Amino acid sequence: MSYINENFMELQDSYLFSTIAKKVAKYTQEHPDKKVIKLGIGDVTRPLATACIEAMHKAVDEMSTQNNFKGYGPEQGYEFLRKAIAKNDYESRGITIEEDEIFVSDGAKCDTGNIVDIFAKENKVAITDPVYPVYLDTNVMSGRSGKYNKQTETYENIEYLPVMAENDFKPELPKQKVDMIYLCFPNNPTGTVLTKEELKKWIDYAKQNNSIILYDSAYEAFITEPNIPHSIYEIEGAKDVAIEFRSYSKTAGFTGIRCAYVVIPKQLKGYTKQGEEVSYNKLWNRRTCTKFNGASYIVQKAAEAIYTKEGQKQIKENIQYYMENAKIIREGLEKAGIKYYGGVNAPYVWLKVPQGMTSWEFFDKLLEEANIVGTPGSGFGPHGEGYFRLTAFGTKESTQEAMERIKKLKI
Ligand code: MLT
Repeated sequence: MSYINENFMELQDSYLFSTIAKKVAKYTQEHPDKKVIKLGIGDVTRPLATACIEAMHKAVDEMSTQNNFKGYGPEQGYEFLRKAIAKNDYESRGITIEEDEIFVSDGAKCDTGNIVDIFAKENKVAITDPVYPVYLDTNVMSGRSGKYNKQTETYENIEYLPVMAENDFKPELPKQKVDMIYLCFPNNPTGTVLTKEELKKWIDYAKQNNSIILYDSAYEAFITEPNIPHSIYEIEGAKDVAIEFRSYSKTAGFTGIRCAYVVIPKQLKGYTKQGEEVSYNKLWNRRTCTKFNGASYIVQKAAEAIYTKEGQKQIKENIQYYMENAKIIREGLEKAGIKYYGGVNAPYVWLKVPQGMTSWEFFDKLLEEANIVGTPGSGFGPHGEGYFRLTAFGTKESTQEAMERIKKLKI
């Protein structure tokens, strides 16, 4: 007889975006005549930048010649891409990141999920609430969360840091001493941000408590305002306490071709139970070599092309297009008399559900009466209840159409 990993028994029945996809599939099957507009999962709709397409074509051609054919690449990513990342994403902001502190992967979902492997089960974890569900689920799977409490909808060993209108979506520092802190800014799902001064408080906390910050900056390319940090390493001392996750999914429309990276500074240390200091970079490298054979050469060539002059111009045009959608959503909600947050430095708009409804009730109403798919706030955690997320990743026409439908909705 084989025994299962019982941690999985503590998980919610289904992953948020799968639940939504199932509900939408059922609705469209039953109402084939309805034109459903999907502003739920943050999936891009613009074609890839020409610079990336050209780089991939070239890479495919290379693969067809004896001299340039590539088999397994370096597990950590090709040097050409790690160099481009260090130079363009960090050096350009005055941050020194060495190539061997960068690990290229096939997506930030995998990175933020897999990172739990290098941390002890006993670590105390803090997450913001609402939160991108991957951080929580993977801590549940690896046995760090403890039991689920149905009443409070929380796990016993996880400290939830509420982010809501009442605290201007700025999480307060943990009440207890925690070892691992997940922060995502610009925030998914609320679309809100922290300033450099606000982020500094977290670095100070982590230093005082010897904690590690797991910083997801997948949405940094959407920042439009000054004094909002694109990287946690813009804050002094962050290299001693933070791991940073980056993704090309939203930045360059790579949701379908998959490429991301994680930065683990070599000075970042954890401890054995005996108090011996160990480098997290070394552990992650060891894990990567065992469990990963590297992102595909073709995809890494596409990622490298993002950093060319043409690539930058093209991806910025796409980002601008999406941020124009965010503006259309904000203006539409304003006209509909619905309160909202975010959408200025992030591709997500977080709206307040009309009084007297739960987030899932609003989801159903929007789907059935306006044929629009969004994401119910409670799916991201208990403090997401009463909120709802719309993404700016649709087409301009469908976003405009969605806002027209919302304005006509009786709420
Ligand atoms: C989201 O909608 O929150 C994201 O697209 C999910 C993801 O990046 O995995």
